[in-house]
Amino acid sequence: MAPFPIGTCAQVAHLQQPAWVDLAIRHCSQITPEWEMKMEYIVQPDGSFLFDRPDRIAAFARERSLRLFGHALVWYAQKPDGFLKLDETRIGFGQAYDNYIAAVVGRYRGQAVGWDVVNEAVAEDGDGWRDSLWAQKLGAFDHMRRAFDQARAADPRAVLFLNDYNLESLPKKLDAFLRLTERLLKAGAPLNGLGCQTHLAADLPPGSVTRAVRALGRFGLPVHISELDVSLARARRLFATRADLERAQARLYAEAAESLEALAPAQRFALTLWGLRDRDSWLKGEDPHDTPAPFNDIGDPKAAASALAEALTRGARV
Ligand code: XIL
Repeated sequence: MAPFPIGTCAQVAHLQQPAWVDLAIRHCSQITPEWEMKMEYIVQPDGSFLFDRPDRIAAFARERSLRLFGHALVWYAQKPDGFLKLDETRIGFGQAYDNYIAAVVGRYRGQAVGWDVVNEAVAEDGDGWRDSLWAQKLGAFDHMRRAFDQARAADPRAVLFLNDYNLESLPKKLDAFLRLTERLLKAGAPLNGLGCQTHLAADLPPGSVTRAVRALGRFGLPVHISELDVSLARARRLFATRADLERAQARLYAEAAESLEALAPAQRFALTLWGLRDRDSWLKGEDPHDTPAPFNDIGDPKAAASALAEALTRGARV
């Protein structure tokens, strides 16, 4: 038994593969839709919403008694035509934005245990926040605040997250993330969870994940290791053999688990794997030779899976 829920991302296509389902059921108690609960799938060009696939993932979670985690409501990277070409003589932009959040969060109210409400808001160089359609239309800070308010109105119980990446590798970005958290909380935004994506490269120095998770933990809120994978392709290969990188990968999976175990029990929201098997990983799109997941293509555990399991067993004992 792990000392917190273990999650995986999931696509409808996976649910039809018995081997994936077996692996997910064996190791996980939570699922995050990988892309079919994002605007790119739900928002149609005419502004209507399509829920068939997110509903199938939600139904699978119910049938298999898995927790459902909602991802992601507002993301700079997603600006579907339904919003870009909105006829504002018929409906105001803010109203359409509110309607979207109310419809999506409301639909899974009582089932989704949490939501990534604002995803990847902080600039890579740590100098403020990213520009986006949402920031331009509704204000750099106000669109975030508004998203949290709308999500809370639609589901009084879901844990509402600010989620970002490279917090372990870019100290200035981590600082900016912490300052944004503080500002949202001071403004009274119903933000009550912090997500650390942890898309790691295998050459990340040991201790970096621990430091970031500890910093997030200082707010006393639940922390989600929300999209864990460890890329070999993104690591610099200098002086490292493949075996070295695989050992480093295993250590980082273990460190991620240990960093969450180091927080108070109520703060350990979950640890979510962004791909169970290497073949499932989105990073294959960047480099088809990358092997970032804990299980290999046929679902056998790699050193990373064993190191993670050992860290979880140690964590469950203390
Ligand atoms: C990725 C998914 O894995 C892909 O399937 C999709 O096409 C694009 O998004 N940060 C996030 C995730 O918050 O939603 C991204 O997932 C990976 C980076």
